[in-house]
Amino acid sequence: MEYTQIVFLLLCAQCVAVNIHRIEVPSLVEIGTEFVVLDCQFSTHTTTQGLVMKWFFNGSASLVYQWIPPLNPQVVGLLKGRVDLNFRISDEPLQAYRAIKIMKPTTDLSGIYTCVVSTFMEEDRRTRPMLIYSPGKNFHFTQEKKYVFLVTLICVAEDLYPRPEIIISVQGRPLTQAVSEMKMDSWGLYSVITKAVVHDDDVTEPFEEYTCTLSLPSANYTANRTTVYYPGLMPTAYIAVYEIQKPQERQANGNSVLSRHSIVQLLCLLLSALLLTHHPV
Ligand SMILES: *[C@@H]1O[C@H](CO)[C@@H](O)[C@H](O)[C@H]1NC(C)=O
Ligand SMILES: *[C@@H]1O[C@H](CO)[C@@H](O)[C@H](O)[C@H]1NC(C)=O
Ligand SMILES: *[C@@H]1O[C@H](CO)[C@@H](O)[C@H](O)[C@H]1NC(C)=O
Repeated sequence: MEYTQIVFLLLCAQCVAVNIHRIEVPSLVEIGTEFVVLDCQFSTHTTTQGLVMKWFFNGSASLVYQWIPPLNPQVVGLLKGRVDLNFRISDEPLQAYRAIKIMKPTTDLSGIYTCVVSTFMEEDRRTRPMLIYSPGKNFHFTQEKKYVFLVTLICVAEDLYPRPEIIISVQGRPLTQAVSEMKMDSWGLYSVITKAVVHDDDVTEPFEEYTCTLSLPSANYTANRTTVYYPGLMPTAYIAVYEIQKPQERQANGNSVLSRHSIVQLLCLLLSALLLTHHPV
């Protein structure tokens, strides 16, 4: 091979080379965050001609961002309307719009982001996951005391993402009788209610503290609530209030309440009749 040919090959390899050194995508973002910046830092020796930069979401079928300098970047698909189009991460013409500034990211933008930079001859790509999690709201742990000897521990939380785990525990041991019900709304957010019935016989101390632990394992998020139960107490006034708020249940029980009531009245009448006959005036 001639010297000039080697020089040409070297120069050409350099003129089309593209190399991503670093991709910056935050792996965990809490819902409510004002914005996130996904940055793909690359170097190239090419001139403006032929440089194309793209971002994909969850695989190469789903293009979300494309920039062909010196044109303006285009936001498509999932990110359409969610990106600050004026955001420039650099003043250099070939670097200016390499990053995406996503405003108010929501949980549905969780997934795998891939940055692809290409010239006529070469291409480089890097991939990173981003999880936008929601620690939820209305996380409560309460007791429902409807019956003597029994208490129902109820733990609820709403608007969680991704799928939560809920455990009710006592002295560090999970209650195996706990039953969870999970629902997902149309936004993909989870609501959960977990109930565990505890019998007074299982409480060995004068009182017992129960913990409800809510976690989003992939988001490294954990929160807990506690409640203290005193066994031996009678069903509480709270229950009465709870039942008044549910008139349909009262109606359903109406008949039996009435008949019990009339039996008591009847017994009273019989008793007074007996008393009257045995103690004449
Ligand atoms: C993207 O991928 C992630 C994980 O692979 C998945 O949980 C998520 O539902 C996907 N999102 C969409 C919109 O397809
Ligand atoms: C979760 O927490 C552990 C321990 O604190 C840490 O090593 C890990 O990097 C965290 N994971 C993420 C995704 O932040
Ligand atoms: C409850 O959460 C706190 C931190 O929020 C933690 O230090 C504690 O260990 C947790 N308790 C249990 C029983 O999980």
